[in-house]
Amino acid sequence: MRAVTVPSPGGPETLTLAELPDPVAGPGEVVLDVVATAVNRADLLQRQGFYPPPPGASDVLGLECSGTVRSVGADVEGWSVGDEACALLAGGGYAEQVVAPAGQLMRVPDGVPLAVAGALPEVACTVWSNVFMLAHLQPGEKLLVHGGAGGIGSFAIQLAAALGARVFATAGSEEKLELCRSLGAERAISYRDEAASGIPLWVEVLGEAGGADVILDNMGAKYLDPNVRALATSGRLAIIGMQGGTRGELDIAALLAKRGAVIATTLRARPSAEKAAICRAVEEHVWPLVEIGRVRPIVGAELSLDRVAEAHALMDAGTHTGKILLRT
Ligand SMILES: NC(=O)c1ccc[n+]([C@@H]2O[C@H](COP(=O)([O-])OP(=O)(O)OC[C@H]3O[C@@H](n4cnc5c(N)ncnc54)[C@H](OP(=O)(O)O)[C@@H]3O)[C@@H](O)[C@H]2O)c1
Repeated sequence: MRAVTVPSPGGPETLTLAELPDPVAGPGEVVLDVVATAVNRADLLQRQGFYPPPPGASDVLGLECSGTVRSVGADVEGWSVGDEACALLAGGGYAEQVVAPAGQLMRVPDGVPLAVAGALPEVACTVWSNVFMLAHLQPGEKLLVHGGAGGIGSFAIQLAAALGARVFATAGSEEKLELCRSLGAERAISYRDEAASGIPLWVEVLGEAGGADVILDNMGAKYLDPNVRALATSGRLAIIGMQGGTRGELDIAALLAKRGAVIATTLRARPSAEKAAICRAVEEHVWPLVEIGRVRPIVGAELSLDRVAEAHALMDAGTHTGKILLRT
């Protein structure tokens, strides 16, 4: 099969299409003929040599895909050759074939083209597991989504709004702020703007609204202090990214006063059984909203797998909106 390899860590130009042996389904596993995969920020880090795959995972990049079942290993129930599926992967998605634990396969939501479903697993599983399973966002509560026009953010806004939350979002340009509003954010705030007092404008806006009950944060260290300031009493800060660095200073007194919680997870390293449980919850709670068109996959760019370097350059530049899809 053809797959994207990283002969040596570096920029997008290092990505190389190579011939690799076809994967084989072991017990409990399924091999998919990949129709589409999508770019994630973790792929950029892995390409640069900073984010090695977890033990046992493929060296090939790619944390999600859609496709058809090519073969089924022993002890797999519910999947047959030819079935369409999308899958959450620990790696291997940038390829014509990939092997995955059967529990990490999900049915393709009705009405979503098979290729587009390749852009759903990471955003759906990340947003559901963090915002709803861990941070327990409730109807009527306020969610602040940082980077609301990106892949994760554009899904989080729609899902939270569909489930009755009030959504606030940050973004970096007027076009992206408008996208956030069109997806259901009641306020979209430029992360570049400061209030007259010198604090980030989004901290002031959330403060005036009574604070965020949940914050979905992609920035990490840089936003730790302002995020705690923007929390409501009993607010939950869910950190999923470190685009703003890994080491920050936490004002414990401020967190105590708010009876706040700081949560941080990465999906990729979680045991397969936990990922399977998240996939089942997504099929139950998220797919019905996708099927009625209330939550849409936002695909900002679509390229063929042999243009993977362009796709990475696009995400490196940060000019995209939504997901960047790669078709095999
Ligand atoms: N922990 C996990 O399990 C997990 C899983 C998946 C993804 N993630 C993380 O989630 C984050 C988003 O992933 P993605 O796939 O959605 O990537 P993406 O599409 O590239 O989105 C990145 C976002 O970061 C925003 N951003 C840049 N600078 C910012 C700033 N100063 N303040 C606020 N936002 C800023 C961008 O906003 P503009 O475009 O408006 O500039 C963009 O929306 C990444 O950090 C990724 O690593 C974590």
